[in-house]
Amino acid sequence: MVAYAACIANPVLFMEENVASRLTSRKVPAVLPVAGILEDASKGLIEAPRSMPPKYFYDERGSQLFDAICETREYYPTRTEEALLQACARDVIEQLRPDHIVEFGSGTARKTRHLLDACDLAGETAAYWPFDVCEEMLQDSGQQLVQEYDWLQVNALVGDYLGGLAGLPPRDGRCLYLFLGGTIGNFTEDEAAAFLAEVRAIMRPGDGLLLGADRVKDTEVLQAAYNDDAGITAQFNLNLLQVLNRELDANFRDRNFEHRALFNQEASQIEMYLVSRCRQSVRIDALRRTLELEAGERILTEISRKFTPARLEALLKSAGFAIHSHFEPENGWFSLVLARPEAAPVTPS
Ligand code: SAH
Ligand code: AVI
Repeated sequence: MVAYAACIANPVLFMEENVASRLTSRKVPAVLPVAGILEDASKGLIEAPRSMPPKYFYDERGSQLFDAICETREYYPTRTEEALLQACARDVIEQLRPDHIVEFGSGTARKTRHLLDACDLAGETAAYWPFDVCEEMLQDSGQQLVQEYDWLQVNALVGDYLGGLAGLPPRDGRCLYLFLGGTIGNFTEDEAAAFLAEVRAIMRPGDGLLLGADRVKDTEVLQAAYNDDAGITAQFNLNLLQVLNRELDANFRDRNFEHRALFNQEASQIEMYLVSRCRQSVRIDALRRTLELEAGERILTEISRKFTPARLEALLKSAGFAIHSHFEPENGWFSLVLARPEAAPVTPS
């Protein structure tokens, strides 16, 4: 009886030794200057136009809400990308035969399982390195993965990938890098170019990058995906206020804000805002400042850029990649690109 109760309360206690030893976790040190929440809030919230970077969505609750968004009828990217991965995983693994799979912004790693299954089939035993800001999500998904795959070594990496990739632990052998879900779209054009150049810089010949990106499509389909009927995306957006309250000793009130997401056609991006419902003052003790917001004033909380195939390939090429394969569904709603490092240009002597 006691054992059963403990098992429910803490499944880690009941992980067999050989299972627990196949899961490690370490922090990745930032090697580039990267702002923390205090600096981002001080730069982004005090004066209009107000904004916060999207990485602050992903505390434990935010990560669970993102997972719930993926299950909504309206949010097509996850299931579209998953179908592409299911179809191409075997080819990708057989082409690359990776010793390591490193995933940026891994979340639950739900879709990654198709690649791990393909490793299984091909008799490959790659180590998996999920890299994410959300430590709780890394722990949960890591524990599940080592139990599901009896050959898998999971080395969880906790940190901010905007702090640079040169601080990643060394790995011998071929690497497959993953950046899935369309998260590249949460970067501006310059941030995306800089991040891909960083990825390219740590790659060696024989490595590959599998990049998922959402595509331009009907405005109605796009807007519905970020305004689901069940209101999960609204909760995800509003959860940012709880993160700010907790981390910055602020007193944002959910009921004084509303979720808004719209497609900006000119910029080809979804823009997600928290809109002030009334004239209000919000105290942020950690900044020793008070925000004065008018009714209708908005805080930009996320952009989600939507690509054409040509723009996506041009972005990868400018960062030093060659396009190996470009997978897409019949409706063209999502792209999954396998890119390889372009051989360094030969400089005439
Ligand atoms: N790749 C998954 C999850 C996408 S959600 C999928 O395709 O479904 C975005 C993920 O990136 C979240 O798990 C979030 O915690 C992580 N993330 C966001 N910004 C990050 C950053 N700057 N550094 C590391 N991880 C980040
Ligand atoms: C993680 N990222 C790709 C998601 C997106 O679609 O831009 C985050 C998200 N925001 C609202 N819904 C989903």
